[in-house]
Amino acid sequence: MGHDLVIVANRLPVDRVNDERGRSTWRRSPGGLVSAIEPVMRAHDGVWIGWPGGTSQRLKPLTIDGLHLVPLSMSEEEIEEHYEGFSNGTLWPLYHDVVAKPEFHREWWDTYVKVNRRFAERAAELAAEGATVWVHDYQLQLVPQMLRDLRPDLRIGFYLHIPFPPAELFQQLPWRRQILEGLLGADLVGFQLPGAAQNFIRLVRQRVGHKTHRDLVYLPDGRTVRAAAYPISIDAAGFEDLARDAAVEERARGIREALGDPRKIFLGIDRLDYTKGIHARLRAFGELIRDGELSVEDAVFVQVAVPSRERVEHYRNLRDDIELLVGRINGDLGRIGRPAISYLHTSYPREEMAALYRAADVMVVTPYRDGMNLVAKEYVACRVDDDGALVLSEFAGAAEELRQAWLVNPYDMNGMKAALLEAYEAEPKELSRRMKAMRKQIAQHDVKAWADSFMTELEDEAHHGHTKTVR
Ligand code: G6P
Repeated sequence: MGHDLVIVANRLPVDRVNDERGRSTWRRSPGGLVSAIEPVMRAHDGVWIGWPGGTSQRLKPLTIDGLHLVPLSMSEEEIEEHYEGFSNGTLWPLYHDVVAKPEFHREWWDTYVKVNRRFAERAAELAAEGATVWVHDYQLQLVPQMLRDLRPDLRIGFYLHIPFPPAELFQQLPWRRQILEGLLGADLVGFQLPGAAQNFIRLVRQRVGHKTHRDLVYLPDGRTVRAAAYPISIDAAGFEDLARDAAVEERARGIREALGDPRKIFLGIDRLDYTKGIHARLRAFGELIRDGELSVEDAVFVQVAVPSRERVEHYRNLRDDIELLVGRINGDLGRIGRPAISYLHTSYPREEMAALYRAADVMVVTPYRDGMNLVAKEYVACRVDDDGALVLSEFAGAAEELRQAWLVNPYDMNGMKAALLEAYEAEPKELSRRMKAMRKQIAQHDVKAWADSFMTELEDEAHHGHTKTVR
């Protein structure tokens, strides 16, 4: 007896961790992927296969908070080579416009293949006859084809949560053909943006030599694969309710007070990742204070940096760079009781995030490249009074939907300074006009709409995909 919906993702929605007293417990995992899929799981009563973090072995399937979870363990070597190595040292920087230099190591690739196979085998065991399997993200791009070989009866969807690079960059990958073929095992391959889907289709045509037409790929065996954009979103109503909660409102007031009731609060919340442009935004803010455009009596920047991938070298260096900069800015420009930047290296539960969003006047989201960026959408959902400003990088997927944000190029320091200042000085009427439009967009395109449109298309594609012919 199997499951009708199987979610396959590198991470489970919870991590196995040790608490202060050394006992192991479960904690919510970081990142946008987990927050997006959780509601889908609940709606379809699915099972979720993923790594629980760490090296714990032989964990049994379990149900937490109504979610059926199947932990899949990784050895120390697999963590180093599949997760830290190939996923986060090769693919992550390559897919994010090579903002850091990707490394190519053959051993990393071998382990990536091995771990992908283990995921595919476990999914094949758990899926009922004719079930739907939804595979997620760059850590598992070989699973669709491996799974199809094991279980041709399944309906297989794949969704990439991060950008898919232009052919000129993807081409660097020594295993480019294997990755494309792995993905083509799916009936439907979903991306954040239409441009990413087009990159994929073009690569399939050029590198694998299959016929393509618009968003369809025609395989020699008669099967078709569709590649299209499904911009991911958030549980907008859930965030809105949270933001209206009396305890959250009270906490938002408490945060403002603790910061010394400045005129305006700037806020950044990111995983501590070099794609997020944290350094550039803090520099821009520091320069505005140095130039006398802003003062530490009136404005403070709260930067929450959520610990991430801490054993990967690029990430360790990034943390040092940012903490050096924060120290310098505060040392040079702060006053007693008035630091320019209030920096926190930690992660917070949803309630505290909502309180921060409510407390912040200017939300600053400036990635060099980002698949979507759900923090930007969460901020908008939490601004229930239609106020507050969003400064958003053009290079975040969210910029295609949130057109009323102050859009910036994070490489353009002066442009970014000007936008921060404009957002700081904007009239309430202007803020409200922009926020209303963005809130409408998010309310209409929430995570449920995202999942429904992907699942509906997947069912349709798998029904008809085999019989379609070249038009
Ligand atoms: C992004 C990725 C996810 C990943 C998350 C957290 O959202 O798209 O696949 O899980 O970051 O990163 P981590 O390496 O901690 O899983």
